[in-house]
Amino acid sequence: MAAPSDNSTRRNSENLLLHTGEGVVVDIGTGDGRFVYRSARENPNKFFIGIDANAKPLEKISMKATRKSAKGGLPNVLFVQAAVESLPEELNAAADEIHIHFPWGSLLRAVIVGDESVLNSLRRICAPECLIEIVIGIDEERDKSEIERLELSQLSPDYLENILIPKYKAAGFEVLDKGILSPSDWSKLETSWARKLQSNSNRQVTYLILQAS
Ligand SMILES: C[S@@+](CC[C@H](N)C(=O)[O-])C[C@H]1O[C@@H](n2cnc3c(N)ncnc32)[C@H](O)[C@@H]1O
Repeated sequence: MAAPSDNSTRRNSENLLLHTGEGVVVDIGTGDGRFVYRSARENPNKFFIGIDANAKPLEKISMKATRKSAKGGLPNVLFVQAAVESLPEELNAAADEIHIHFPWGSLLRAVIVGDESVLNSLRRICAPECLIEIVIGIDEERDKSEIERLELSQLSPDYLENILIPKYKAAGFEVLDKGILSPSDWSKLETSWARKLQSNSNRQVTYLILQAS
């Protein structure tokens, strides 16, 4: 399944990853698959895999992707029901690019606490020099109950630098970039949650760009 990485993935002015070459792109916690579907349509030379623990929101887009091309079918898309905690072994060393956008529930907890087994699972599916983009959007007030339920730490610069990044490093990831995205930047992400959350500018959106080392 793995396609050659030509290392030509670059970042755009908003610091997010651009699709510019061949390869396999995996979107974890893909939701309704919008990002995967649109990216696949715009990048026919890449193969896109959307993964989510919940299959229901993927039913419609999966059907569409398998239609004839005149009816929206795409040959370079696959949707998989799986949890990040147990990614299929068929994906081992397959991903040239991994995206995690607006994670929630156990996926959110795993990327914020730097859960060792989830980071190992992500590292397992990385091809050499795989790039990973994680975009986390939290509103301290609106998301209070989820933050408390998941016992999440605040993503302060100190927490990122001294607690979280060392965990990603220990799991085999180099941190290439990190920071806060402005509402005008993150609202351009082609995901359904980026669209849903657009009206709330109190949401702090943190991004991390990692590379498998
Ligand atoms: C807020 S939605 C974001 C969906 C999409 N990335 C977007 O930006 O529109 C979070 C998604 O993470 C998925 N998710 C939560 N925990 C997960 C896990 N452990 N493994 C895989 N997906 C998970 C949920 O099912 C949900 O679809």
